[in-house]
Amino acid sequence: MALNVVIGAQWGDEGKGKIVDYLAASSDYVIRFHGGNNAGHTIVNKYGKFVMHLIPSGIFTQTTKTIIGNGVIIDLDVLISEIDILKKIGIKVEDRLFISPRCHLIMPYHKILDKLYERAKGFGKTGTTGRGIGPCYGDKVSYNGIRLFDLMNRRQFLEKLKIQVEIKNKIIKALGGEAVSFEEIRKNYSFFFSKIKNFIAEPYPLIQKAIKNKNKILLEGAQGVFLDNDFGTYPFVTASNTVSGNINAGAGVAPQKINNVIGVSKAYATRVGDGPFPTELNDKTGEKLRMIGGEFGATTGRPRRCGWLDMEMVRFAAELNGFNQLAIAKLDILDGFSEIKIATHYTLNGKRVSYIDGDSSFLTKVKPVYKTMKGWTKKVQGIKKYEDLPKEAKDYLKEIEKLAGVKIKYISTGAKRDEIIKI
Ligand code: IMO
Ligand code: MG
Repeated sequence: MALNVVIGAQWGDEGKGKIVDYLAASSDYVIRFHGGNNAGHTIVNKYGKFVMHLIPSGIFTQTTKTIIGNGVIIDLDVLISEIDILKKIGIKVEDRLFISPRCHLIMPYHKILDKLYERAKGFGKTGTTGRGIGPCYGDKVSYNGIRLFDLMNRRQFLEKLKIQVEIKNKIIKALGGEAVSFEEIRKNYSFFFSKIKNFIAEPYPLIQKAIKNKNKILLEGAQGVFLDNDFGTYPFVTASNTVSGNINAGAGVAPQKINNVIGVSKAYATRVGDGPFPTELNDKTGEKLRMIGGEFGATTGRPRRCGWLDMEMVRFAAELNGFNQLAIAKLDILDGFSEIKIATHYTLNGKRVSYIDGDSSFLTKVKPVYKTMKGWTKKVQGIKKYEDLPKEAKDYLKEIEKLAGVKIKYISTGAKRDEIIKI
């Protein structure tokens, strides 16, 4: 199949990096279409362990070309350090990384404002990654953004920067923050530009040609469905649309060109940041999942909140995004659990309700209804064939398929690239 889209079916951190890395091995192009360096895609391969924030995970497959699509917002400092790390381990980046000039830039004032807004909101804070994501997308949609196109035209860049620095310093000062310096930003960004200018290339013709040639294309989603700005648990969401339909706006890929939408879900659930989490476990079991699963943010290092798999959400995600395949990540983390619970649906005041029936405050009140499944005694860690899975693990996977209404195509049984079952 020529065009695959990988989408996180939960709140991010589902293990998309691993699935993308695996699929990239047979892809000609890997494209990111939204988000910024709030993403942290962990990959373990022959070069070591890496957390990619901006460059598509496909960069590790030498025959694959990678594209940062127009919907992505870029912190140039982070981009440059990623390029440097790749070069250091001997990965060729030239002619393999193409960045859309339409990408908006995360500026220093966006990061400051992100933190100041969070502080001002107090208990109502979103719990952002502090990477300037919301303020940067906010500037994009309110026509105050600065794009790579601007950086390519020095005068245009300086004119826009001057106005933005003036506006932003007023807000920063009003919120008790420290003003930014136009001069310093000017200097830094002219250095950044010299480092990345060779990677800027309109990817639209390249993508269209690849589609016509039936090349294998993989669109790498970031975050997850429930962090989507429209369909997620607003305001505890991210600033971009994380759903499959955004490949059109974020990378110029027409929806009818999609062959597969692959939803990635962990075998349990996690969330970083604030907001409702109906199946959260604030007990020893939650702690056990965190410890065994290494559930600490790949971007910020924050401990992730852990809980049982919520099939009300995965089912909604499947319907909304048109998943026709599921990838279940981190099944091995459930090794050694004598009992595993899976939320089949929600109720409120004794009546069945759905995810879509209400907002974030509604979701804090719903009661997940659980089915208790038997755990397995034999380890699934490292298993590469479906037949070799213990019966209880197969039963758990079948239950997921039944509740989601989607077939499972990939099962990750460990962090390494080859610790995966393909069905
Ligand atoms: P990957 O791609 C998990 C969460 C933050 C916060 C909310 C808003 O690695 O799955 P933001 O900085 O985007 O304004 O924060 O979104 N968040 C993520 N959580 N994985 C991510 O990306 C995330 N990107 C943002 O924790 O709750
Ligand atoms: Mg992450």
